[in-house]
Amino acid sequence: MMERCFIKEGCRGDGAAWVGRSSQEVELRQDLLCELRNVSRFYRVSRGFFSATTHLVRALQEVNLQVKRGEVLGLVGESGCGKSTLARVMLGLEPPSLGKVFFRGSDLASLDSAGMKQFRRQVQMVFQDPGSSLNPRKTVFQTLKEPLEIHSLCTGSDIRKRVQELLGLVGLELSAVGDRYPHEFSGGQRQRICIARALATNPELIIADEPTSALDVSVQAQIISILMELHRRKGISYLFISHDLPLVQFMCSRIAVMYLGYIVEILPRHLFGLGRSAKMDEIHPYTGYLMEAVPVPDPDFYVDRDGSGVTPGKEREIQDLDSSEPAFRQMDDGCVYAARCREASDLCFLKRPPLQEVSPGHFMACYRRGTSEESYF
Ligand SMILES: Nc1ncnc2c1ncn2[C@@H]1O[C@H](COP(=O)(O)OP(=O)(O)OP(=O)(O)O)[C@@H](O)[C@H]1O
Ligand code: SF4
Ligand SMILES: [Mg+2]
Repeated sequence: MMERCFIKEGCRGDGAAWVGRSSQEVELRQDLLCELRNVSRFYRVSRGFFSATTHLVRALQEVNLQVKRGEVLGLVGESGCGKSTLARVMLGLEPPSLGKVFFRGSDLASLDSAGMKQFRRQVQMVFQDPGSSLNPRKTVFQTLKEPLEIHSLCTGSDIRKRVQELLGLVGLELSAVGDRYPHEFSGGQRQRICIARALATNPELIIADEPTSALDVSVQAQIISILMELHRRKGISYLFISHDLPLVQFMCSRIAVMYLGYIVEILPRHLFGLGRSAKMDEIHPYTGYLMEAVPVPDPDFYVDRDGSGVTPGKEREIQDLDSSEPAFRQMDDGCVYAARCREASDLCFLKRPPLQEVSPGHFMACYRRGTSEESYF
């Protein structure tokens, strides 16, 4: 049975959600939770404190990305490529400069304040730094009580019960932690409290922006196991942003790879696999580069480009990480990765390859892998 639009009144009763006044805005796809459609996000920044001249930072460019119901979607890419910007835009904290964001078929830009409040209930965020995302003046109990009250989810004595339940989900006890302030906890405990707060509204989607990168390895494992357990038990979807590629491979069923604001590849986990399962000639050259850069315990071992695994005695080959021009130059035309790509041809500098499905569920923007160069002449 189809589900009605939860945000706006006025379902026609046949299951099709209608949002806003235009019938063209009608969107409902059962397995789709959140969608970015041709989204770009630009920032105008000044060149100096006293300078009147400004330039445009293109943090996100023509991004098309979908988070499906119940999936864990990974988002990877080097620092500054736009991952957190994508998260903020998906969360509705910033509007896109171009394009649209849909949640369960509803265009965020068309939501009234009640619709936006509902949306905020359904989509929550866990940030990298749990310290700065908690109010230092509020106890754990006050922190967790707040969303329950804002969204009128519980009243009276039920609030205490619900807070206890939320803390239980992340392995904490209300009697032990309820009256304490954030500074009295370790980083791992603070991140658990942040996860409990995110769960307070029973969200369908949690955007986790490097949730474990500030934590030591053992605490990381605890947080990941809590997130995955919640995924299994409650069917929560995640957009999981991380620099830790093995962790992304472990957690995510699909992975989107970003480079300079563009999504250059969306691939299923088995193609993203590091080591034996990786087939470098089937994936985008930039994804291949990211995989090659993952350290292996013994530097004398080398991850073969043909995916046949690690080979002893072979010299490890990692592409030069020159971060100066022209590698980081934003290309107006051509492939965004062309300045760095070992396989670039003339066409790569002339025309941007579209993100195309090259095999079921595998999307790539590359002439050498997906789109044939010949079709462009
Ligand atoms: N509010 C802002 N004003 C101006 N530029 C911004 C703003 N927010 C982000 N940017 C720029 O947008 C680009 C993308 O930044 P973003 O924080 O999304 O990258 P990221 O992929 O999350 O990086 P990291 O992995 O280091 O967290 C960067 O060049 C950044 O400087
Ligand atoms: S389109 Fe060309 S430059 Fe871009 S990744 Fe593919 S081969 Fe490299
Ligand atoms: Mg970031």
